[in-house]
Amino acid sequence: MAIYKDPKIKLITSIKERVAYKVRNSIELAYPNEQKISFLDVLENRHSTREFAPMSISDLGGFLYLSCRTRSSERGELGLVNEKRNYPSAGALHSIDVIVSDNFSSNWYIYNSRQHTLDEISVADREELQEFKESCFNILGNGKAGYLIWYVCDFERLACKYEFPETLAFRESGGLSAIQSLVSEYLNMSFCTLGANGSQYVTCLSEQSKLLGVGTAIVGGKF
Ligand SMILES: Cc1cc2nc3c(=O)[nH]c(=O)nc-3n(C[C@H](O)[C@H](O)[C@H](O)COP(=O)(O)O)c2cc1C
Repeated sequence: MAIYKDPKIKLITSIKERVAYKVRNSIELAYPNEQKISFLDVLENRHSTREFAPMSISDLGGFLYLSCRTRSSERGELGLVNEKRNYPSAGALHSIDVIVSDNFSSNWYIYNSRQHTLDEISVADREELQEFKESCFNILGNGKAGYLIWYVCDFERLACKYEFPETLAFRESGGLSAIQSLVSEYLNMSFCTLGANGSQYVTCLSEQSKLLGVGTAIVGGKF
């Protein structure tokens, strides 16, 4: 018997707008500088790096811009918003949000891919989230520099179009982290995907919405 059910496109879709996180503060982000490195060199040199030098928020902006900003969006015929970004997405719904936090504050941010800002989220339980963040950094055990990247799926939006959508969310987070590992190579940064999904912590981000933690990574500067 199959462990997972295959996703199926629903015949009748419902419409749900993006999850509305409680946002209280927005930081405008910088844009990336063009690098003189070929695509082939990026591809052939990419590797996971487990040591992270401090990285500025300006560099983080460049990384997020290239890996996951919204290039364009439109409401599709089913009434759901479809987006184009630099990685593929089930149904073009782009239901995965990138949540970011560093070790030097207890703030949590969502990357606003349409405005290219980091929006601070009012979270329910900072202590619990702090424990989660520490546990992620402890997986690599190489200091505190860098940013935790947490892939969180807006499950209800993905479920507007699909029955059994869980595996789509996990596959999409894999695609996103693969693109992020290439972008970090291009920008001369350190990046490592982690095995943790943070599934039990997502309720701290929003109590109303059904969210799914579908992966984590750390990005930081290179020594
Ligand atoms: C889904 C996934 C989970 C991973 N989890 C971890 C992890 O928890 N700790 C770690 O050190 N590396 C982790 N990695 C990185 C792999 O160990 C790494 O990609 C692999 O050793 C190949 O090395 P490379 O990325 O340098 O080619 C993960 C990679 C993937 C795709």
